[in-house]
Amino acid sequence: MSLLEVSQLTVDVQGIPVVSDVRFAISAGERLGLIGESGSGKTITALAIMGLLPEGLRARGSVVLDGTELLSLSERRLSAVRGSRIAMVFQEPMTALDPLMRVGTQITDAIRIHERVGRRAARDRMLQLMPRVGFSNPREQSRRFPHQLSGGQRQRIVIAIAIACGPALILADEPTTALDVTVQAQVLALLQDLVQDQGSALLLISHDLAVVSSVCQRIVVMYGGRVVESASTPELLTRPRHPYTQALLHTSRGIGGNGDTPAGHLPTIPGSVPELGRFPSGCVFRGRCDREQDRCLEAPPTTGSDHLVACWFPLTSPSDPTAAVTTGGVGA
Ligand SMILES: Nc1ncnc2c1ncn2[C@@H]1O[C@H](COP(=O)(O)OP(=O)(O)OP(=O)(O)O)[C@@H](O)[C@H]1O
Ligand code: SF4
Ligand SMILES: [Mg+2]
Repeated sequence: MSLLEVSQLTVDVQGIPVVSDVRFAISAGERLGLIGESGSGKTITALAIMGLLPEGLRARGSVVLDGTELLSLSERRLSAVRGSRIAMVFQEPMTALDPLMRVGTQITDAIRIHERVGRRAARDRMLQLMPRVGFSNPREQSRRFPHQLSGGQRQRIVIAIAIACGPALILADEPTTALDVTVQAQVLALLQDLVQDQGSALLLISHDLAVVSSVCQRIVVMYGGRVVESASTPELLTRPRHPYTQALLHTSRGIGGNGDTPAGHLPTIPGSVPELGRFPSGCVFRGRCDREQDRCLEAPPTTGSDHLVACWFPLTSPSDPTAAVTTGGVGA
């Protein structure tokens, strides 16, 4: 059985779907990547799983963690799940930290919120945890306030808080995007080591295909609030089936691509992600896809078992001569 099973997840804002019929599962200890251009619905999906959607957004469908349906839990029970069973690491560490509290106290408090341990025991745990996230002098460094730490150090404190109670699942939404390039790799390696050490599953959200493919065993690709493809990382990188995934790979330098995009960042694909409520009917990728035909006016079904794709005319092999969105000129 999967640890987390997301099915038919739909999130509306004033009747307009922001995320539609999203489905994926994560097994215990698995690392799953969620990728897609800005506005594709990655963060909203993560917030819906955590029960932290902003006001005005409503989730339907099903999010089952360890056999428990989270979407119907009361806020009280959900907040018990958050932190102890699922933890989240956000892009900007300052949003997760209290600027007026010493960082060590914030870790200690996180331990005490979810476990019945005394302050002294929680503090001892905090002092053991800090070296695991790279602080060599925990007694001194735990007394600092967030503004007295670098961005990378702050994110390592957030990671310490996230792992403090050994959650079964960590959702990390662009955890390194706000950091200096030189510390991105360190923080990512740390996150990967920690989830592996304690056997937690990881849902890693990123724009960065290189990051996701280096850390995750499977990748889910989102576009227009929908899952358009999902497969194991090697399969997705070598045999993408959805034209959108193909476009990401072709134009992303360093992963079989040859575009002008800086390594590791999602490329510029012709056209842009439509605004909320402006997605075409039928297939959401219509208008940007060179394989489009009349049939695409109807929404494509999702097909496959291990390798899922939502497209009427998926690519059949990496050398498919009609491969979409390469340098243009590909007819349907
Ligand atoms: N609070 C909100 N109210 C209304 N619409 C929202 C809200 N937050 C996000 N949206 C809309 O939901 C859609 C998906 O947003 P989301 O933040 O999930 O995208 P994303 O894939 O995480 O993008 P990015 O890579 O830029 O973080 C966007 O069209 C966005 O405008
Ligand atoms: S071929 Fe059609 S269904 Fe497939 S991605 Fe392109 S527009 Fe969508
Ligand atoms: Mg986001």
